[in-house]
Amino acid sequence: MPGFELFGSAERKEVNDVLDNGVLMRYGFDGMRNGHWKAKELETELQSAFQSKHVQLLSSGTAAVTAALAAAGIGAGDEVIMPSFTFVASFESILMLGAIPIMVDIDDTLTLDPKTVEKAITSKTKAIMVVQMCGSMGDMDALQRICDEHKLILIEDACQAIGGTYKGKPLGSIGDLGCFSFDFVKTITCGEGGAVITDNKDYYIKADNYSDHGHDHFGNDRGAEAHAFMGYNFRISELHAAVGLAQVRRLPDFLAIQKKNFTILREALSEIPDITFRTVPEGGVESYAFLNFFLPDLEIARKASKNLKEAGVDGCFHYYDNNWHYIRKWDHLKNLKSLYPISEEIKSGIKYLQTKTFEQSDHFIGRNISCLIKLSWTEEEVKSRAEAMVQAISLALKLVR
Ligand SMILES: Cc1ncc(COP(=O)(O)O)c(C=O)c1O
Repeated sequence: MPGFELFGSAERKEVNDVLDNGVLMRYGFDGMRNGHWKAKELETELQSAFQSKHVQLLSSGTAAVTAALAAAGIGAGDEVIMPSFTFVASFESILMLGAIPIMVDIDDTLTLDPKTVEKAITSKTKAIMVVQMCGSMGDMDALQRICDEHKLILIEDACQAIGGTYKGKPLGSIGDLGCFSFDFVKTITCGEGGAVITDNKDYYIKADNYSDHGHDHFGNDRGAEAHAFMGYNFRISELHAAVGLAQVRRLPDFLAIQKKNFTILREALSEIPDITFRTVPEGGVESYAFLNFFLPDLEIARKASKNLKEAGVDGCFHYYDNNWHYIRKWDHLKNLKSLYPISEEIKSGIKYLQTKTFEQSDHFIGRNISCLIKLSWTEEEVKSRAEAMVQAISLALKLVR
């Protein structure tokens, strides 16, 4: 998946452009920059890559999720429904705004189960945040229907699914707001960076201003710009945007490589009768950033994970035992371990996590292995990897039974 694997002359040229003219900030300094506006250029490229009317670049995917929520007006006491399987950034962003993350079970798409979402809706629910995990997606039609029926905002965290599509539309462009990460391990990278995309001009202007202390970005005198509301500094730098600009132009090539490598591995694993693959909703096309499959039970999955590591097959994650991506290991959230006092509203809002169980999510995440697809493998390497995977997994299935 990571674009950094294929850094080359294109990235170097864009970065050198910035260094040569010396303006590292994306705003202002118009006279000095000799026409170099890397962040603006990248936003324009992303508008077409993600088929979205508006794109706001930010300093990270976490900043993007936070700005998307803020632009949608989500704040103190509002409930946001999110999946039990995601990266910690999802609940961090919600909590940062004083809102309450309501975690619900996933299904075999590895993200929100529309049935569990519907059951979690209360009078405080303001938004549903679907996280398009590991290159694929939730049942977007069902989630959109729920949002329409209950007048909720649909936010898509597509940080891990750059290039995936649903019914012909890029992931991220289906909900009211979509979020992307361009951190170092994403399909295209800026080193650090993120984006909010939306067709809603009002949300876009809010995300834009919010990410730069409320600056309205009118005129060319930053000191004279107005501030309609408060914001933060979630700006991307020109250096980071320059890397992303080179990478986004290579995205079609990266996706083609991912698909080729994914297909070789999937075909090899399909020979193992006990393996099932994650469900991709009808009309969905994965980004092929990860190959996700299920084993018959937790014990076999643990054994397979161990065997894969021992066989030198890197980048295969058993998220059930991972500290960062699954509710099971988020004691710091359940116990609200914070450096600073937390509001009473959040304390009472998050109490449900003391007792709520996630059996349905355990059923899927406990048995799931998620294998990163790299861009730099040669065909020979993918084939020998496929062989090693089949052997490691078959061994787990035989030994445990
Ligand atoms: C699903 C998801 N959301 C948000 C983020 C946060 O992105 P960043 O690392 O750019 O802050 C990540 C990063 O891994 C992610 O996987």
